[in-house]
Amino acid sequence: MPIKSRIRTIPHYPRHGIMFRDITTLLKDPLGLYTTIQEIANRYDVVTIDKVAGIESRGFIIGAPVAYQLGKGFVPIRKQNKLPAETLGRDYQLEYGSDRIEIHVDAIQPGDQVLLIDDLIATGGTAEAAAGLIEDMGGEIVECCFVIDLPDVGGRARLEKLGHSVFALCEFEGE
Ligand code: PRP
Ligand code: MG
Repeated sequence: MPIKSRIRTIPHYPRHGIMFRDITTLLKDPLGLYTTIQEIANRYDVVTIDKVAGIESRGFIIGAPVAYQLGKGFVPIRKQNKLPAETLGRDYQLEYGSDRIEIHVDAIQPGDQVLLIDDLIATGGTAEAAAGLIEDMGGEIVECCFVIDLPDVGGRARLEKLGHSVFALCEFEGE
């Protein structure tokens, strides 16, 4: 398990009861980083993709090198008030309160085949909002791709219920 074994778990961070899955230990390892990007890029090698979209901030670390490896452009989906040109935004729920992500209105053309990438899916709220933004602009989600899925939290099922295909390199379930 070259990927999962390199992900560190920090118990009770950021709050008591949360098992934080920390990818910094994966990223700092040359084979870990290489394998992560390569395994994702290989999966989409023969798939029609126009753009790779990554979600700020950890989704940038994974998404941009995947786009580079596939020879495609990269679209950043950013937290609110970070993008300088005209944007489209969506609010999404956090455990406490809400947040907002935005995309430039000229980032996606109607009919674009978009691979959506983030490091982790938990509730799926972030990815649902990001996928919604892409679809609002006429883009089609090829797949929602993550390094880590936490199936107990239900995000994958939530996205699949919306009709999205979901892929993750590894899962942490009941551990
Ligand atoms: C984390 C993680 C995902 C999201 C998953 O990001 O990187 O983007 O939460 O949670 P969800 O499936 O319940 O929506 P976070 O908002 O902590 O910000 P970061 O990537 O900037 O660290
Ligand atoms: Mg994130």
